[in-house]
Amino acid sequence: MTGAVLSRPAAPAGCPLLPVVGADTEVPLVPAGRAPYADLDTAASTPALVAVADRVAEALPLYASVHRGAGYLSQVSTALYESARDTVAGFVGARVDDVCVLTRNTTDALNLLAGCVPAGDRVLVLDCEHHADLLPWQRRAATTVLPTQATVTATLRELAAELVRGRYALVAVTGASNVTGEALPLADVVELAHAAGARVAVDGAQLVPHRRFSLAATGADYVAFSGHKLYAPFGTGALVGRRDWLDDAPAHLAGGGAVHEVTVEGTTWAAAPHRHEGGSPNVLGAVALAAACDALAALPDGALETHELALRDRLEAGLDALPGVRRLRIWPDSTAPTGVVSFTVDGADPGLVAAVLSAEHGVGVRDGRFCAHPLLARLGVPQGALRASVGLATTAADVDRLLEGLAAFLDRGPAVDYAVRSGRWAPADDPRPLAGLAGADPGAVTRGAGCGSPGK
Ligand code: ALA
Repeated sequence: MTGAVLSRPAAPAGCPLLPVVGADTEVPLVPAGRAPYADLDTAASTPALVAVADRVAEALPLYASVHRGAGYLSQVSTALYESARDTVAGFVGARVDDVCVLTRNTTDALNLLAGCVPAGDRVLVLDCEHHADLLPWQRRAATTVLPTQATVTATLRELAAELVRGRYALVAVTGASNVTGEALPLADVVELAHAAGARVAVDGAQLVPHRRFSLAATGADYVAFSGHKLYAPFGTGALVGRRDWLDDAPAHLAGGGAVHEVTVEGTTWAAAPHRHEGGSPNVLGAVALAAACDALAALPDGALETHELALRDRLEAGLDALPGVRRLRIWPDSTAPTGVVSFTVDGADPGLVAAVLSAEHGVGVRDGRFCAHPLLARLGVPQGALRASVGLATTAADVDRLLEGLAAFLDRGPAVDYAVRSGRWAPADDPRPLAGLAGADPGAVTRGAGCGSPGK
């Protein structure tokens, strides 16, 4: 990560590092009452930084078409978009000849990269990846999914052996697991891959919002990440990295803006990044993402890591003190995890525990298989688990609320009856209105069958 480092006193331990929109939002409880929302699901999506919302509000009156209009505001919007691209590239330490393609999110970015790996070239990926860094590769014919080993040392050894066994063009690896916050040491992966002639793509979805990251410093070839996990939930993410494959590949989205010349017979495509950004760009999403990058880059060195590790330590100590709670680890010898902790509660359905935490305590966690089905199977919990994740706006009080809610559940069980409705546990009699849907029966709301639904 590059960017100005301001000298500013560190926030007191356990307090938000930066203000976010909605920090004081209260949610209704069952059977009665209200509580401030304790958001421990930042690994899925983060709230918007106030700085992001402010920058978007400033840009909105200037909003006009990007790359298309002769009008003054079109020129302004184009400048905002392109300057956001530069900020995002700088935030992840892009080299001068790297390209920054603005995408929808990490999934979009890694699907784009998967379409750019030269046809027939092989990709190597571990089975501990979340689906965004597994499925785009899995559906290419030339991909090997390597079993994750029981330790970091053994996994690196197996990775090295496989890189010798096969000829790989790319190793795709998580920067931080969305299930446990753990990672392989990136410097080792880059060294092994480069020695074997392979490039490295880092799934930065869970890393870039939580740690300084630099393509130039790590030597990694690509990084993909999402604005909605980086306090900029306005629909933009990024793929940043080497130009050649991106220039040679078919356009990710065929459409206006991605071309030089079109005739009925054929099309001459633009170079990257425009080649892969067909259609009207999301200038407000780009502005939001750049604002988030600026805000995180301005934090004092180490502040984010210190804040999140203190919360993780508090969370782990609290979970370990609860009977029947078991934390998940991929590798006992991994170090420097981010603030993502998954766990099970003996004899309890994770979906029921998550519903009780939400309904009775106002605590938001994720349950299920976290869009990482092979990893959950490898960890021996194919039925799923619970996940708590912290970010720059999480407080010690949020963590304590989760621990107290779990302790109450273990002590007394649910305070009301619960039932599975539309595939998800909820209070059998749930009087809570959904915001914007006042008066609606929450159980009657159909939730999509995507990552956050029962098949998750
Ligand atoms: N990868 C996202 C999560 O872990 C979907 O919640």
